[in-house]
Amino acid sequence: RKPRITVIGSSNVDYVVRSATYPQVGETIIGTSFQEFMGGKGANQAVAAARLGGDVSFISSVGADSQGVQIKENLSNECVNIDGIYTSPNNSSGIAFINVSNDTNKITVIPGANYDLLPEHIDQQERLIASSDIILVQLEIPLETVSKAMELATLHSIPIILNPAPAQPLSAELIGKTTYLTPNFSEMQAMTGLDLKNQQDLEIGFSQLFKQRVKNIILTRGEDGVIFSSHSNQTLQEVKSVKVVPVDTTGAGDTFNGALAYSLASGNDLEAAIRFSNLAAALSVTKNGAQLGMPTNEEMHGYASKL
Ligand code: RIB
Ligand code: NA
Repeated sequence: RKPRITVIGSSNVDYVVRSATYPQVGETIIGTSFQEFMGGKGANQAVAAARLGGDVSFISSVGADSQGVQIKENLSNECVNIDGIYTSPNNSSGIAFINVSNDTNKITVIPGANYDLLPEHIDQQERLIASSDIILVQLEIPLETVSKAMELATLHSIPIILNPAPAQPLSAELIGKTTYLTPNFSEMQAMTGLDLKNQQDLEIGFSQLFKQRVKNIILTRGEDGVIFSSHSNQTLQEVKSVKVVPVDTTGAGDTFNGALAYSLASGNDLEAAIRFSNLAAALSVTKNGAQLGMPTNEEMHGYASKL
């Protein structure tokens, strides 16, 4: 059977402005394009895992507006189970304003209805969580909701991927419940309070998080590749990135996380799962928008030699 993945998180509509450079404070510049895409870290990760062949369910909250309808339609088209998407009467659907400039992006999120996803909604999905092979959470919904999802997964011995994005300090309790923690550089800085200027800082950062009892840390560094380590041996290992010419890096981290969930839930070991996810993330940045470039399993096979 297909691996069962439950993603609990945000869904947004992305409004994307592309320009050669970013405006400075007080400056006006002329950009090159404006486009609307489907996004949100949760939805993106759900789509990434589904395209690769996962049986994916998504728990989220949208507004009672046309964006909410669009978000749900898009996810159904991607074969994501949307029975766990709530429609909030209180707020509009989440949106993100994104500036893209070739190999970088800057994002401002207005969470709206995403912040109406509450612990009680998660309680109603306990059976779904308990029947998953893995759950995948990020931080664009209330922290107490993330915490509830992790509590239920722990209760049923379901492994947890926590993608700690957007960056913020986190409690030792939350970190301690995490099976796979997947920060990027700035998220690792926020969680550890460290600068991480050199290898020694990095080792201190990893061991600090291991003291809080996380089981595995996977630090994603874009084109610089991944550094990962497990609580059981605590040596830092490296996996190189797959080189591509980036068009839009928005959602690369989400593709990585969705692919990681799929690969781990399929029974692969951590290093193999990281290699697989690196390739998926690399392919995703070769197309515009967070989701359009996410590869299918078939496309991944075409690149198998790169693993
Ligand atoms: O990780 C990329 C995503 O972050 C975008 O799709 C945007 O919606 C924000 O949530
Ligand atoms: Na992309």
